[in-house]
Amino acid sequence: MLDRITQLEQEAASDLAGVDTSDQLEAFRIKYLGSKGALKALMGLMKEVPREQKRDFGQGANALKQRLQASFEEKKSSLNGDAPDAARRGPALDLTEPGAPPVLGRSHIISQTTDELVEVFARMGFDVATGPEVEDDYHNFVALNIPEHHPARDPLDNFYLDAGGAAKPSLLRSQTSTVQIRVMEQTRPPVRVISIGRVYRPDEHDATHFSMFHQIEGLYVDRRVTMVDLKTTLIQFAHAMFGPDADIMLVPSYFPFTEPSAELYVKIDLGKGAEWMEIGGCGMVDPAVFEHVGYDPEEWTGFAFGLGVERLAMRKCDIPDIRWLFENDIRFLRQF
Ligand code: DAH
Repeated sequence: MLDRITQLEQEAASDLAGVDTSDQLEAFRIKYLGSKGALKALMGLMKEVPREQKRDFGQGANALKQRLQASFEEKKSSLNGDAPDAARRGPALDLTEPGAPPVLGRSHIISQTTDELVEVFARMGFDVATGPEVEDDYHNFVALNIPEHHPARDPLDNFYLDAGGAAKPSLLRSQTSTVQIRVMEQTRPPVRVISIGRVYRPDEHDATHFSMFHQIEGLYVDRRVTMVDLKTTLIQFAHAMFGPDADIMLVPSYFPFTEPSAELYVKIDLGKGAEWMEIGGCGMVDPAVFEHVGYDPEEWTGFAFGLGVERLAMRKCDIPDIRWLFENDIRFLRQF
């Protein structure tokens, strides 16, 4: 009978050794120390114990109860305390594992180009002006000396908005030259501003055409401004943008709002050999435009220019297709 005590003690010891969660410990407590546990059952054997062994059996069983209680308490505090088990610690944490680097956002290539243009012209004393993208007929055409039946007004070349019965429908501006008018309406000369923004034309999309793109417009009005000032400004701009080897060429052309007018070409060598590229138009502000904004053309002269921002950005970053700029594929945009 006394062997039963030793047996139970060994069994309990090996069970307890395998305990490493509090659930397992609770199961251990119920199995051995619970009201229907093995210890209770052992005590129940008392009646079967021969009389002369009863005393030893009773003492032995009681001592075992003390020891099991003590080792139970010991296990319990080790589980809760300083030696937490794997389950409570959670998954193993490898502090040497390389982390996931935070991904930094960046400005769109057009915004970067815009910022650069603003800076280049700010150094030459130009302020920045803005104007609305939904324009009226007067600012997009009339004040810019574009008469009623001029082909530039063709509905196939402009995004006219529903007139709602009005005689002169508004439109998404087709050029930033509108801002020249808005600035001159609000300020007296001298004027020295650029304006950069979106313009809209219903062009079919291909590698070099998009129905929305950006222009930078420049306007300089003062006394005795000449073509030399225009050319000097554009050369400075080309050097700042494309380096000291860049060159420019003015090719006679026609715009209703300038006289004389020219197309602006830049010669850029970005390592693949020099190349001439047309980047916009320019000229001396037509006196008819000054008259629309109340400037005296006898007193004031000025130059203006309008350049394509996408062309500049694409040339500078060697991007062959304008559509890529607006697809918002992060793998493409992230390169710049
Ligand atoms: N507005 C013209 C265009 O969109 C570009 C332009 C030409 C702007 C000559 C000017 C200018 O200011 O003087 O094609």
